[in-house]
Amino acid sequence: MPKYKIAWLPGDGVGIEVMEAAKIVLDKLQFDAEYIHGDIGWEFWKTEANPLPERTCDLLNSVDAALFGAITSHPKEECEAALIPELQGKGKVYASPIVRLRQEFNLRTNLRPCKAYAGSPLNYKDGIDIVVFRENTEDLYSGVEFHPFPDEVREAVKKHNPKMARFDHHPGNEIAVSLRINTKTGCTNIITDAFEFAKKFGRKSVTVVEKPNVLRETSGLMVRTAREVAKNYPGIELWETNIDAMCMWLVKNPLDYSVLVTSNMFGDIVSDLCAQLVGGLGFASSGNIGDKLAVFEPSHGSAPKYAGQYKVNPMAMILSAKLMLDWLGEPEMGARVEKALAEVVKEGKVRTYDMGGSNTTLEVGEAIAAKL
Ligand code: IPM
Ligand code: MG
Repeated sequence: MPKYKIAWLPGDGVGIEVMEAAKIVLDKLQFDAEYIHGDIGWEFWKTEANPLPERTCDLLNSVDAALFGAITSHPKEECEAALIPELQGKGKVYASPIVRLRQEFNLRTNLRPCKAYAGSPLNYKDGIDIVVFRENTEDLYSGVEFHPFPDEVREAVKKHNPKMARFDHHPGNEIAVSLRINTKTGCTNIITDAFEFAKKFGRKSVTVVEKPNVLRETSGLMVRTAREVAKNYPGIELWETNIDAMCMWLVKNPLDYSVLVTSNMFGDIVSDLCAQLVGGLGFASSGNIGDKLAVFEPSHGSAPKYAGQYKVNPMAMILSAKLMLDWLGEPEMGARVEKALAEVVKEGKVRTYDMGGSNTTLEVGEAIAAKL
């Protein structure tokens, strides 16, 4: 029997292609796994009004980890129009399957390493090595939103916070509200993960990235928690930076930063910025990590305009597979993948279009496999 059971969730568009490239690498490693295909993505929205079918959730409950490619999502009106006729007009609501996966399986930590591999023409600066820890289930992603804003909710809020009265002259149907919900547990977990990582890999600082001067309660909770948790890690400095300033500092002095920790929405934004510093989404790997399950995915989307062309860079996907190997307790294998990928980048002979080359997605996978 293979040692590991891995759910294989290619999804849509280029997700399918980068997963194929990752498979070439995993096979060359002789990673001892059984891969089980799971349905996910736009196809299943159209035909079942559910892009994350129940059978895929069952599968995820039975595996050690999952690899996920990418999915296509569209705005509200287009979602309704794409449904097969029998499902239209039934009030079906599209919800991002990756956000659902994160919440339903409590994949509370989003790990996003952003490392500039030497020799890449896309590096903003050589030597960048930033790891973003993004809280993955709460915050503005909680999904508690209102439009129209119900009167009874408005009255209740007003009772507890007089600032609400400033909006009295706007009717409910002209107010949209999204709740930013952050918990002490959520803050403690993500900050502890960031410090544990720093401790394990000898990083000297952890920067908590928030906006507590304005978002006094939510960002405040994160920063206050960071100060408490930091006391348990005497060798590691805690730096506090506001999200806006952070974006500026990252562009100015990216080598100053090592481990960043932040809430869900700020983490979504700042991790794209960090990804671009090291070559863009073609290099942006990520892990959605919970206590029982972890799902590894490149941070890029399904790029419908490139679908079927085997053009996009699979390195983000292959680095996500590396994160999976690390998480499963196979760090030697993970290190071999990263080393092989770094060699291919450095040599510069096999490159997809984003890196100025003309090789295909699968040729990059093969080149990395050949170095193993
Ligand atoms: C990401 C993506 C997702 C997010 C989208 C696809 C819902 O941007 O993983 O960063 O917002 O988290
Ligand atoms: Mg994002």
